[in-house]
Amino acid sequence: MAVQFDPNAPDTIVDPYPGLAQLRHEEPMHWNPVSRAWYLTRYEDVRQGFRDKRLSADRIRPFVEAQKNGPDGEEIAFLGEHISHWAVFNDPPRHGHLRGLMNKAFTTRRVESLRGGVAEIVEGLIADWKDGEEIDFHQQFAYPLPATVIALLLGVPQEDVDNLKRWSDALAQFVLTSKTNPDKYRIASDALKEMNAYFADFLEQRRREPGELVTDGLISASDEGDRLTPEELTSSCILLLFAGHETTTQLMANGLLALIRHPDQMADFRANLDDPKYVANAVEELLRFDGPSLTSPRLVAEDFEMHGQTAKAGQRLWLWNCAANRDPDVFEDPERLNLRRENADRHVTFGFGIHFCIGAPLARLEAQVAFPILLKRFSDFELLRETQVWSDSYVSRGMTTLPLRVHR
Ligand code: HEM
Repeated sequence: MAVQFDPNAPDTIVDPYPGLAQLRHEEPMHWNPVSRAWYLTRYEDVRQGFRDKRLSADRIRPFVEAQKNGPDGEEIAFLGEHISHWAVFNDPPRHGHLRGLMNKAFTTRRVESLRGGVAEIVEGLIADWKDGEEIDFHQQFAYPLPATVIALLLGVPQEDVDNLKRWSDALAQFVLTSKTNPDKYRIASDALKEMNAYFADFLEQRRREPGELVTDGLISASDEGDRLTPEELTSSCILLLFAGHETTTQLMANGLLALIRHPDQMADFRANLDDPKYVANAVEELLRFDGPSLTSPRLVAEDFEMHGQTAKAGQRLWLWNCAANRDPDVFEDPERLNLRRENADRHVTFGFGIHFCIGAPLARLEAQVAFPILLKRFSDFELLRETQVWSDSYVSRGMTTLPLRVHR
């Protein structure tokens, strides 16, 4: 009998791993009637899926085509037009054009230069937390950190960070497909209009006073030879803001929760906070064990066969990053959090192949800076509720709140 897996079931949202393990074991190419999509869950299959030209990243245009005459058609068409400039939703050759310019702007040197600034932001966020105080780690730390860092990276004034967060959350209702909000298209398209206007002004100003920021790199890369149109440039800034926001929030919150639930690993981490190699590996294991990526959806462009089943052109196929990360053929004892795991960095939380996350060095840097500071400043993080509220996104995994009592 076919394996039953309902991604929307409350138990699955809280803990998708047992169901995914069953799929990985018994039905590695699975047709899911709830999502109306094929699922791949084994590590090698997921990596192959990321590389396979028959699987297209362009899942926005067909969605817009199908919905443009529906009740939310106008909003969906507007959102689709802008988001279709995002590298992550494009196939070659356009993907290479959009990504190449972002890569030029997003150099290791630029990211590394943010290390001190990130530490300052982290210290600033926790400065007022008193011994024994109740905090919401998600709202007070994990959520503001990435938006503030991306503002630093793009050179956006810090006083605009609240707007950036608000717009990015609203856009998430469309891009990360919230299952519940009936008004999501209007909310997302209003936010995108405001963002477009904001970034158009901001980019104009940077053009007049260029400096060393990622945005300046994007502007000059787009002005030389392989040009980006003004729409592509604005869209690429919005993509960077958006892609680096909710994901990194979830890395921090899911990561801290995993440490709290594994006191032996928390103690080992605390004993090694000054060892950069240990810290870097610990972050990789947190990304593997319960990272922010649930699935990476693809559209089947040409019939795709695997394990005796055929996904037909036009159908959807989901590459389950988080299931691949717990494949026992690659990770020994995969359900165990082991910060010393030797191959932790083989996870596919940042994807694989041509769309591999451009922001991975920045997300890693944020976590490598933030976790040691948090563990040095606080001797204990006490969970105030055993049950967490997990978000209803199809593609990303994270909580909406994480109430804790902190002890200095
Ligand atoms: C822990 C944090 C993060 C996670 C888990 C993550 C995850 C991912 C994944 C899975 C993809 C590939 C999507 C696909 O193949 O469909 C991706 C792509 C991307 N990410 Fe990230 N990301 C993170 C942080 C960031 C940050 C901080 C930025 C930028 C500031 C960023 C920018 C991007 C961009 C621009 C792409 C598109 C690349 C392309 O299509 O070529 N991400 N990310």
